[in-house]
Amino acid sequence: MGEKIRLDKLLSNMGKGSRSEMKDALRYGYIKVNGETLRTGKEKVDPEVDEILYKGVPVIYKKHIYLMLNKPQGVISATGDKRHKTVVDLVDEAYAHYDVFPVGRLDIDTEGLLILTNDGELTHELLAPKKHVPKVYFAQVDGVVGQADVEAFTAGITLDDGYACRPSDLVVQSVADGVSNVLLTIHEGKFHQVKRMFEAVEKPVTYLKRVKMNALELDPALALGEMKELSEVEFEALTRGVYEPKV
Ligand code: URA
Repeated sequence: MGEKIRLDKLLSNMGKGSRSEMKDALRYGYIKVNGETLRTGKEKVDPEVDEILYKGVPVIYKKHIYLMLNKPQGVISATGDKRHKTVVDLVDEAYAHYDVFPVGRLDIDTEGLLILTNDGELTHELLAPKKHVPKVYFAQVDGVVGQADVEAFTAGITLDDGYACRPSDLVVQSVADGVSNVLLTIHEGKFHQVKRMFEAVEKPVTYLKRVKMNALELDPALALGEMKELSEVEFEALTRGVYEPKV
């Protein structure tokens, strides 16, 4: 048995349309629950138990949801906070009942790709240190990043607390007026890792954006603060090599 939720909410959550469109669909008699046509969305249903038909087609209930957020600056990667807006506050009402949480953390001033889900098992696999899931960051760095830095990052940077990072892949995209644009691929997720790696070579990060996690790239069509559900292809890219879904 699952949780009971309002029929109109469930239908709009399942992508059948907005709450007001669902109101119309109910009025027109398009919705049947356990063989009975329901005309209002007030009724609470259990999607794991009740048979819900929309125009005769079963409404498939999804247990898990996977959202891609283009995180803006100024919001924190948590489910609740007294002082700051959180990434969960950005979740559309249509997904509210899924109780999503962020997969890992981006700093308050870091932008870019953040996955929100209610799938604890996948989250665990993606964050498990032994899985070494690659994450790619675009960074703007104060200073001229050169070949010596690339080699130091390849060899493995040592952080301020003595932690020896795994080899990382640093690519310099451009250098102008003493500012470097770089792409960095890391295989760990230590606190403030990218910023601390560049601090170790005395080139502070002034802008940071995650652009890729595993094989999943941030959708360039997503504006800052926007989110969307992952397509099947995107889900496969995110989970490639780290996750064997149970059938
Ligand atoms: N590394 C950082 O320093 N900050 C982030 O938000 C992510 C990685």
